[in-house]
Amino acid sequence: MGTTVASLSCPTPTTISLSSLPHTGGGSKRSISLLSLLRNPNFNTKRTSSSSSSSSSSSPLMATPLQVYASSTIDAPNDAMDATSPGLVGANDLLIVGPGVLGRLVAQKWREEHPGCQIFGQTVTTDHHDELIKIGINPSLKETKATHKFPYVVFCAPPSRTPDYPGDVREAVSSWSGEGSFLFTSSSAPYDCNDNGSCDEDSPVVPIGRSPRTDVLLKAEKAVLESGGSVVRLAGLYKADKGAHVYWLEKGTVDTRPDHILNLIHYEDAASLSIAILKIKLRGRIFLGCDNHPLSRQQIMDLVNRSGKFSKKFESFTGTSDPLGKKLNNMKTREELGWEPKYPSFAQFLGVSL
Ligand SMILES: NC(=O)c1ccc[n+]([C@@H]2O[C@H](COP(=O)([O-])OP(=O)(O)OC[C@H]3O[C@@H](n4cnc5c(N)ncnc54)[C@H](OP(=O)(O)O)[C@@H]3O)[C@@H](O)[C@H]2O)c1
Repeated sequence: MGTTVASLSCPTPTTISLSSLPHTGGGSKRSISLLSLLRNPNFNTKRTSSSSSSSSSSSPLMATPLQVYASSTIDAPNDAMDATSPGLVGANDLLIVGPGVLGRLVAQKWREEHPGCQIFGQTVTTDHHDELIKIGINPSLKETKATHKFPYVVFCAPPSRTPDYPGDVREAVSSWSGEGSFLFTSSSAPYDCNDNGSCDEDSPVVPIGRSPRTDVLLKAEKAVLESGGSVVRLAGLYKADKGAHVYWLEKGTVDTRPDHILNLIHYEDAASLSIAILKIKLRGRIFLGCDNHPLSRQQIMDLVNRSGKFSKKFESFTGTSDPLGKKLNNMKTREELGWEPKYPSFAQFLGVSL
């Protein structure tokens, strides 16, 4: 049975209505026809998750270039271009590689700041393409070659679904025009600290060759930095119904040590931080995304139990000898970007005092 979550505010995605009516022009409501999507030969070509892990070279999609046709339907003034014009990319158009939980929040916030922009999303499968279209993101498969480059690109896909994560990131960099910004959402995992000590943006990272997990991230980061893109190393992402606390709650008893310190950032804050980095247009920089309230695993689950907002009760951590964690601080990132999180701590998010 799933864990139920009560009384926590979850972000509501912008509701965008699709309309097959032709663009009438002049009104504040911009209704763009689905014609552009239908013109795209890849639209409606279903690839399911069962086939997602292999990208067969015999796939007809491989050879078919993706035409960039504006197809977003948004209740916003048209400040970009005639959306039915094929092949045009606007100055604030955004490509999201991996429009999952974080990517969709970035899309929502980006659109709030740039009404009328086009937002594109690259995925592994077509499983969520209908959902993406409903929220105004023009989907395509990552293997589909784009014929255009985009001024803003954010890579928000996890490393778990590909045999070549650095290769995927390089491919995404090749879709960037070099204007605007490229941002890779990495992880704080590469910081070389496992004694519950302090880390910040400038702390040393794990050397290449010590861990396959950090190797993949560092190689992907290198590809981005060398191309002038930027990196944000994110702490553990959470929202009411997703994150480490939900995973542990489901298990009840977990075989890792309770005193391991970890760091969190709410999905909404990771999205607002990503937007701040995209907007500042710096080149080749590494930022850190965390809430500056590191907590031990035990503290996190004590807060969850005390909050009264979850139907299950967490039992215990039973490990004794696994590695400790780290305490992250991102004051430099905050000062440079003028960014602050909406949720300064997990306790405040839950409405519980520490
Ligand atoms: N979760 C954490 O605690 C944590 C911590 C630090 C950093 N991060 C990073 O934060 C970012 C966002 O995480 P999230 O939880 O929002 O991700 P998510 O929801 O799991 O992202 C899923 C989306 O990514 C697509 N995708 C997966 N692999 C892809 C690939 N190789 N190429 C293109 N698209 C791909 C999926 O396509 P389909 O629609 O076909 O499924 C889906 O659209 C990721 O970069 C992740 O590594 C996460």
